[in-house]
Amino acid sequence: MSSQLLRDARQHEEIFEKNIGKEDRPAFHLSSRVGWMNDPNGFSRYNGEYHLFYQYYPYAPHWDSMHWGHAVSRDLLHWEYLPASLAPDTKYDNFGCFSGSAIEMPDGKQLIMYTGVVKEMNKEGIYTDVQTQCIAVGDGINYEKYENNPVLDEKDLPEGGSRVDFRDPKMWRNEDGTLSCVVANRAYDHTGSLLIFNSENGFDWKYEKTLAFNHGKYGSMWECPDYFEMNGKHVLLLSPQDMYPVDMEYHNGNGTVCLIGHIDDTTGEFVEEYNQAIDYGIDFYAPQTILTEDGRRVMIGWMQNWDTCSMHSEDRAWVGQMSIPREIDIQNGRLLQKPIRELENLRTDCVTYQNVKVSGVQTLEKVNGRCIDMEVTIRPEDKENLFRELTINLAQDDKFKTSISYRPQEAILKIDRKFSGSTKAVIHQRRAKVYSQSEELKLRIIMDRYSVEIFVNDGEQVMTATIYTRLSAQNISFQCDGAAMIDVTKYDLTE
Ligand code: FRU
Repeated sequence: MSSQLLRDARQHEEIFEKNIGKEDRPAFHLSSRVGWMNDPNGFSRYNGEYHLFYQYYPYAPHWDSMHWGHAVSRDLLHWEYLPASLAPDTKYDNFGCFSGSAIEMPDGKQLIMYTGVVKEMNKEGIYTDVQTQCIAVGDGINYEKYENNPVLDEKDLPEGGSRVDFRDPKMWRNEDGTLSCVVANRAYDHTGSLLIFNSENGFDWKYEKTLAFNHGKYGSMWECPDYFEMNGKHVLLLSPQDMYPVDMEYHNGNGTVCLIGHIDDTTGEFVEEYNQAIDYGIDFYAPQTILTEDGRRVMIGWMQNWDTCSMHSEDRAWVGQMSIPREIDIQNGRLLQKPIRELENLRTDCVTYQNVKVSGVQTLEKVNGRCIDMEVTIRPEDKENLFRELTINLAQDDKFKTSISYRPQEAILKIDRKFSGSTKAVIHQRRAKVYSQSEELKLRIIMDRYSVEIFVNDGEQVMTATIYTRLSAQNISFQCDGAAMIDVTKYDLTE
């Protein structure tokens, strides 16, 4: 039986989505059906389709009492909205149904594990969160919350673990059919840690161990962990809050980290061998991964950052998009990301240019558009006399542009959306050090109506930014201080 709160949300989204035209949304990125979206949740395969739930407040374009929105897809690019699946309608989640994951069960049902949040007054008289893990079971459309919720609460925490920050369970199935999950927790030293719990049946869960402690190295609390093995390595994806920048890494405040390592045989703890940001742009947070039927690990993230949410005005009908799903790999101790190959099915109208000299401003016939897949390879015209900066201007008209600039002498790539149509003084620029091994820099730029994702050197790094430029700004130009040679291959992407 669905609650009044859930019925209200379902009715609201059905009515208000009608006010949003097709062009008002991204063409191939999932956006909030109405109102607000943050983290991807329950990214999973179920009944032969991909399901993606999301943190959702349907009634306004800002964060508020969290529901779960829901969409389904066959190719991870074309999404169909389903009715909202969870509302904060019980005594253990009435402040919000926070992030979690989903998995198909042997009996054909889909099991969701999410964080239930309530507010309780502490000894100092201040209201704080109490976070527990809860279960809901459903058929891909309707979900029933488990009668014995919550299934994990403060009794299940290791000593010193906080019940205020205990959230975002990510489940997986082990080879023997049992389930495990990793949950983020604020540990005894007040910074993040990751806890592992196990279950035979998905309903009864037991604490196994603390997999990793932050000890303040990466921000404060950790959010939305994911954990898997790949190419002989153990991989952790994390979204730490309040990070300090370190040289050219971790400039996002609320950032993302990929840790690559192994498990210590005696302690069972994760040992870090390598760390990097998952995304070096502005808008990427809280990613989750799945395994596709053909064994690819695909990651999707919330294409927004908590530090820049205030760029959205209150009159928008939807706020929040997901990134392009990215196939990920671990090679030579680094994370590689590529747009999922299904995107190639959307390509039309190929235009190619080889060895174009850019010195000053240059446009190329038919190289324009707002929904594009464009590869640009950049090299100096004269290796002994490097150009100072090459800039690619996207979504450009007489007033607006979003720029990607490369300075080979410093190996710095910059995205700048200052002139993308935003009227808010939030962060609009991000720089990344690019680790090019050769004299060439290879960029693959995936642009949708309201976003740009730049895959650098075959996915060694990615920079993501949302833009809300008027759609008539369709031009692309190249500009060089000095002389550079470029190859360009551009496709339009159709819906
Ligand atoms: C991450 C996060 C999660 C939490 C959710 C609440 O963006 O803060 O930790 O579950 O958002 O909406």
